[in-house]
Amino acid sequence: MKFRYGKVALVVGASSGVGKECANYLLESGYKVYGTSRKATFDNSSNMLSMIPLDVTDESTIKEAVDYILEKEGGIGVLINCPGYGLAGAIEDTSIEEAKRVFDTNFFGIMNVCNFVLPHMRRQRKGLIINISSVAGFISLPFQSMYSASKYALESLTESYRMEVSNSGVKFSLIEPGDMKTNFLREYVIKSENSDYKERCDHAVNKMIKDEQNGPEPRVVIKELKHILKKKNPPIRRIVGLDYKMIGILKKLLPAKFVEFVIIKMYGGN
Ligand SMILES: NC(=O)c1ccc[n+]([C@@H]2O[C@H](COP(=O)([O-])OP(=O)(O)OC[C@H]3O[C@@H](n4cnc5c(N)ncnc54)[C@H](OP(=O)(O)O)[C@@H]3O)[C@@H](O)[C@H]2O)c1
Repeated sequence: MKFRYGKVALVVGASSGVGKECANYLLESGYKVYGTSRKATFDNSSNMLSMIPLDVTDESTIKEAVDYILEKEGGIGVLINCPGYGLAGAIEDTSIEEAKRVFDTNFFGIMNVCNFVLPHMRRQRKGLIINISSVAGFISLPFQSMYSASKYALESLTESYRMEVSNSGVKFSLIEPGDMKTNFLREYVIKSENSDYKERCDHAVNKMIKDEQNGPEPRVVIKELKHILKKKNPPIRRIVGLDYKMIGILKKLLPAKFVEFVIIKMYGGN
């Protein structure tokens, strides 16, 4: 059934990458789409994609954006949470403040958006929330520990939400992309200067940068979005891309120590 959850969609982080692709796909499919950017203002909305301001680390902007849409449309049927923030460096070199900054966006920020939208979805007894996670949300990466840990936490949060709202008509799903060519590295922080881990950290970061630059366009997520949208009971998670789906299967089948050995070989350098 088309528009199973209603025709209004909110895509948080729709100015580039995955969010922009999702917003465009929903528009093409006939949804009324609100996208957000930290740089948008309330007065630049058109009839097509209405871009509005929202920063997931600033609760007042979440409230304002959700209230704005509810006043105009009366409800939100589909919410897709895309913002992500990355920090690379050894755990030993990472301060609690720096770690918190990653979690503020990738975990608490997304949780706050869900909590503002959820009461309205529960009241209308339908809704779909999709959180964009990562392959790093089920495979821990060295020198990207805070990013990985925050995505693991987001995965757990989403699984718990699913169970808590299972009698409400509201559904939750995760999309787990691997490396893609987006603007993600624009705000990426790399902490390897003066580190005892510099050589290994730089090796891991350079691999990640190369993989992202050679990765597919973010449009690859649309196949999984389509799959989730058409399901009456959406899956808990969808991994993006055949190669990463294989990695997901191998992670379940192979001994954990072997998986660790391969990851160290890939990312840990010598
Ligand atoms: N690229 C990859 O290789 C890759 C791989 C796996 C998973 N992912 C995940 O995919 C998601 C989307 O990333 P992307 O690759 O599409 O990156 P992107 O091109 O940088 O897009 C990120 C979007 O999030 C918004 N955003 C960033 N921080 C925000 C904040 N604090 N509050 C509100 N909006 C914020 C940005 O909008 P403004 O700057 O306009 O506010 C932008 O629209 C992230 O969760 C990322 O972790 C990416």
